Amino acid sequence: MVKMKVLIVDDERLVRWSLRQKFEEWGYAVFEAETGKQALEVAAAEAPDVVLLDVRLPDISGLEVLEKLAAASEPSAVVMMTGDPQLDDIKAAIRMGAYDFIDKPLDFDELSVTIQNALEARRLRGEVESLRGEVRRQVGSFEVVGASKKTTELMRFVRKVAASEASTILVQGESGTGKDLIAKVLHYESSRHEGPLVAINCSAIPETLIEAELFGHEKGAFTDAKAMKRGLFEIADSGTLFLDEIGELSPFLQAKLLRVLEDQQIRRVGGVRDIQVDVRVVAASNRDLEKAVREGSFRQDLYYRLAVISIYIPPLRERKEDILPLVDFFIQDYNRKFRKAVRGINEETRRLLLAYDWPGNVRELRNAVERAMILEDDALLRPNYLPFAVTQPHAGLTAFERASSPAGGQALPGGRRLPSLTIPEGGTSLEEIERSMVVLALEQAHGNQTQASRLLDISRDALRYKMKKFGLIHGEEAEEAVS
Ligand SMILES: Nc1ncnc2c1ncn2[C@@H]1O[C@H](COP(=O)(O)OP(=O)(O)OP(=O)(O)O)[C@@H](O)[C@H]1O
Ligand SMILES: [Mg+2]
Repeated sequence: MVKMKVLIVDDERLVRWSLRQKFEEWGYAVFEAETGKQALEVAAAEAPDVVLLDVRLPDISGLEVLEKLAAASEPSAVVMMTGDPQLDDIKAAIRMGAYDFIDKPLDFDELSVTIQNALEARRLRGEVESLRGEVRRQVGSFEVVGASKKTTELMRFVRKVAASEASTILVQGESGTGKDLIAKVLHYESSRHEGPLVAINCSAIPETLIEAELFGHEKGAFTDAKAMKRGLFEIADSGTLFLDEIGELSPFLQAKLLRVLEDQQIRRVGGVRDIQVDVRVVAASNRDLEKAVREGSFRQDLYYRLAVISIYIPPLRERKEDILPLVDFFIQDYNRKFRKAVRGINEETRRLLLAYDWPGNVRELRNAVERAMILEDDALLRPNYLPFAVTQPHAGLTAFERASSPAGGQALPGGRRLPSLTIPEGGTSLEEIERSMVVLALEQAHGNQTQASRLLDISRDALRYKMKKFGLIHGEEAEEAVS
């Protein structure tokens, strides 16, 4: 059996000697250090499981040693020893990761208990850490970023629900608020994380197929059923089934789903036998389901069954403290993906991002950062490459609505319309507006230049010329544009 390693750090020889006797008796491999410097050397070489550390050392302070020990990749469990405990030292030490304090002269019974607890705490911490590593490997990262009180509280609740036995959970929130993300947390931070996470978007599959998709079918159940097929409920057994856009489910399937949720049994289409499944169902909707119930398009009984545990993600505009941390997070993400070295955003960008109300929520923010990162050459993101809607927020309309609004824009010959803009106080720059329109047209045309030039009623060459003028294309591509 491998012996536990203990490192005793004290400048008094007698203390070290008596501790060595005890620890050897308890079956430890014992190492000693007289000074802080020596302690760090031995710790680096031996990676002790536990360190018994005197607060007062001849060279560097015990707290400083502690801080360095805590920074190791697999830090030792540290117990501090002190002759006259000062509250401030204790607080600082605990904050830096010391497990406990023990008074001198030492009581060996107390010491034995403290050391065992410290080792247990260290073992648990190691376990949690390696589990986290595991999850990351499986799904990439699904970090939920947020600094606002709303998000912090929400995530505390989400983690609690994830770890619970809850078999159905409803996640509601506007489009782009992070429902998919929360569904992942609900799965990967539950005891089911080793089981499958299966997702289906109820609005993306034709009604006629969705029943067989969810519940499977027996051979010969219908003309095309040449073989038996297991449904998603069976595939998700022991894991989680994510039913996205549940509000789009037909009344027939709503009734069928309710029965499954109630007795965790499914029957394949064309089958006669009930099959027991163990599935956590996470249902999501960006429509207000309670309202849908009132309007008669969603079954009340199913709603009540789903809403036993209901998670509501507030829109981004109601938690603006999350905006800047999210921007930082996305910048890091795209720096990695695009091999860029963007350091942040400039003051004006910051102001605009905070002022905008993000109807598309986090997804819209993420897309705005992505786009700016693709186009920006500076180390700080400037407003130049922000979407038009962000730089010219106007009466709560999206850029698309504004540009196509019949009430807004003035009609031009040929049925075209002028986007309704107002000139802000202090004036504006015609060139900047032209640039924004080019960017907007490209965006609306998903980068298709022919289509974008049609939107602006100019030739494709003229569009490319403008793109070059406004720095939207570079290098050879730009040469080509003017040639
Ligand atoms: N708190 C957050 N931290 C980091 N990324 C987030 C956060 N919230 C949302 N995102 C990101 O924003 C994007 C949109 O999130 P998601 O797809 O989960 O939204 P949704 O609510 O499912 O939208 P929809 O209703 O359109 O399906 C994703 O790229 C997601 O990773
Ligand atoms: Mg979604």
